Amino acid sequence: MKAVVLVGGEGTRLRPLTLSVPKQMLPVVEQPMIERVLGQLGRHGIDEVVLSLGYLPDAFMKAYPDGVAAGVRLSYAIEAKPLGTAGAIRFSALSAQIDGTFVVANGDVLTDMDLGALLEFHRARGAEGSISLHPVDDPSTFGVVPTDETGRVRAFVEKPAREEAPTHLVNAGTYVLEPSFLDRVPEGRQVSVERETFPAMVADGTLYALADSSYWLDAGTPETYLKAHWDLLEGRRPGPPAPGAKDAGGGVWLVGSPRVQGEVRGPALLGDGALVCPGALVEKAVVGRGCVIASGARVVGSVLLAGAMVGWGATVTGSILGPGSCVGARGDVRPLSVLGHRASVGAGAVVAGERVPG
Ligand code: GTP
Repeated sequence: MKAVVLVGGEGTRLRPLTLSVPKQMLPVVEQPMIERVLGQLGRHGIDEVVLSLGYLPDAFMKAYPDGVAAGVRLSYAIEAKPLGTAGAIRFSALSAQIDGTFVVANGDVLTDMDLGALLEFHRARGAEGSISLHPVDDPSTFGVVPTDETGRVRAFVEKPAREEAPTHLVNAGTYVLEPSFLDRVPEGRQVSVERETFPAMVADGTLYALADSSYWLDAGTPETYLKAHWDLLEGRRPGPPAPGAKDAGGGVWLVGSPRVQGEVRGPALLGDGALVCPGALVEKAVVGRGCVIASGARVVGSVLLAGAMVGWGATVTGSILGPGSCVGARGDVRPLSVLGHRASVGAGAVVAGERVPG
């Protein structure tokens, strides 16, 4: 079966990391987010994926030059300008000549949901579209989807006030659609599936939804991007936290050959060639390949992307350091800071919850 995976957004909430790298090419514990999404689809029988691209499309094509990622065959549909989620689905499905039931997935949703159960549910009801739903505590930042007892969607409520939400089941960003969906999307302008196409299908009674309480995370904000790492390191998702990671005991995982001369307390993962110098402390962290943590530095609750450097006596807490970024000696990076590609924090400088462009 074929799937369209939406990866064309600008990922503004993760800036400045996403100024140079599209969100889905950011690593989640040393593996690009898109490979984690494709792996999940592949495990459920998807063998061909159209990547719906718009923003920084070359990054994907360069990363997968032979058109295969995580065991799934890829094709690319590149929008000349953003078409919105429904416009992008239409454009991608038509370019891949999809003419049967197909799956759509948001490229920044990490999930272990049962796609097979959603397909079965969809077929049993003869639905035009079926949405996977996930229960959340606070639905106020999501699209909320109340259904009747057969699973038919009664309404599509975008971002309701918490106390007014008719249900806490939200749109989980995975859909099964029939090709007739494509005829509903007008050409030549931005069309949102959540605000336009799904509400029209609700009015026609052709949209259904099925709740699934498996692991689910929208990894599109700094908080949830960090959480995606802790969920893997702390075992809330099955298997080793990264491909090829070796368990070094005490919740510490190693990929390739990092050098550990300082102290590393789990949960933590060190990437290939990373260096933790004598007298440095790493605790609850992912230290990407080629990163250097100098003597006396402390890295706690943080994710360091490839080649980031933390200088002598510096502290990094609850933050994300972009690839090749640098924190000078005795610098202090406090929660929830995000440093961009090659961003630099000067010696002794304090960065408190700021975004530092590269
Ligand atoms: P923010 O700017 O931080 O909200 O992130 P985003 O741009 O990724 O938007 P959002 O998280 O709402 O998008 C959900 C999914 O749809 C993501 O996987 C996006 O990459 C994708 N997406 C959003 N808009 C478009 C679009 O116009 N075209 C394509 N191809 N994909 C889109």
